[in-house]
Amino acid sequence: MGAVSVISLTRTLAGLALGGLVLAGCGSSLDDSGGSGDEGGRADDVKVGLLVPLSGVYAPIGEDIKAGFELYLDEHGGKLGGRQVDVVTADEGEGPQTGVPAAQKLVTKDRVSAVAGVVNSATALGLRDFFDESGKLLLVANAGADDITGARKSEYVWRTSFSNGQVSGALGPTVAEEVEGGVYLIAADYAAGKEMLAGFRKTFEEAGGKVAGEEYTPFGKTQDFQPYLSAIRESGADAVFAFYAGAEAVSFVKQYKQFGLAGKTPLYGTGFLTEGGALAAQGSAADGVKTSLHYSTELDSPRNKEFVAAYEKAEKKPPTVYAVQGYDTAAVLDKALAGADDVSGDALVKALAGVGALDSPRGRWKFDADHNAEQSYYLREVRTSGGTAVNAVVGELD
Ligand code: BEZ
Repeated sequence: MGAVSVISLTRTLAGLALGGLVLAGCGSSLDDSGGSGDEGGRADDVKVGLLVPLSGVYAPIGEDIKAGFELYLDEHGGKLGGRQVDVVTADEGEGPQTGVPAAQKLVTKDRVSAVAGVVNSATALGLRDFFDESGKLLLVANAGADDITGARKSEYVWRTSFSNGQVSGALGPTVAEEVEGGVYLIAADYAAGKEMLAGFRKTFEEAGGKVAGEEYTPFGKTQDFQPYLSAIRESGADAVFAFYAGAEAVSFVKQYKQFGLAGKTPLYGTGFLTEGGALAAQGSAADGVKTSLHYSTELDSPRNKEFVAAYEKAEKKPPTVYAVQGYDTAAVLDKALAGADDVSGDALVKALAGVGALDSPRGRWKFDADHNAEQSYYLREVRTSGGTAVNAVVGELD
């Protein structure tokens, strides 16, 4: 289903859902300003929807966001803004076909006061109008779709993660400086992949870089990257820039090495390529890969060290950027609920405008005027430390 039809389906479903509630004459609207929409809930409770992939190629990302969100809640006695939180988790699946109806159910049936999560850019784009029209808060904890905090910005949509053009564009000048010759661009074929390559290409070419080729691989379906790796070799490219995440990142990086490109043709990408469980599965195949991201477990700050220790204690594995985004989403919601007069979308977005800077494991960040995260980006390089591959922080990007 194309983006346009998803959006019109969203509008239709949103209209039907909103109309249905009014027609049912149930005496309540989606403005549950008094607290939990659940008949059995206490007035000072709050119900929050957590929409993340629990299935498909991005399931590991969903699990990490959920773990980060839950860690923050556990550290705060299960409360946000002084209210006991009831988290309703729903599966975003692999995109808008599953993610859009799941979000609509959270709002119209489960009656949550806000939805947090959303990993896939296409899902975020498909949800924008629903939240804009229903006046409910959507806190995007990953999906980088540029327009969500750009041309199609909404009063009710805020993002605690990054935008695709930002995270990929941060690396362009460095690659232009380091690589003599052409760079081949490759990504998963959907909204995020297109924006990641466009964002990188813009700053890379502005800095004098030359593109040797550009290719997109079917999203969620590509297991064998060999034909694409052959095309890279035949192009004569001197380096590669790639966007893959989750299970696709594991296959791409491992096959890049098996095909004989690693060590000969330097591999760059956005940090999702070598993050967390993906890096653990890639092992030495990822050695030397350089990426841009707003987090690394290796960030040398007391706040990050404290977070890494708490996360490892709870999850028995190191955190990821996704876990930090989940954790910070809960932190932002905590501040917003503390500052809001009630839990309606209008009260929450008014309070969000005043939350100020967050002291996060990623470093200090705040919302910009378009509701996107304004933050530092780091240059990372995969190195093996004590037998374990890590994303060493080798610089800060402009
Ligand atoms: C996205 O679809 O926006 C996305 C998914 C995984 C990692 C980064 C971005």
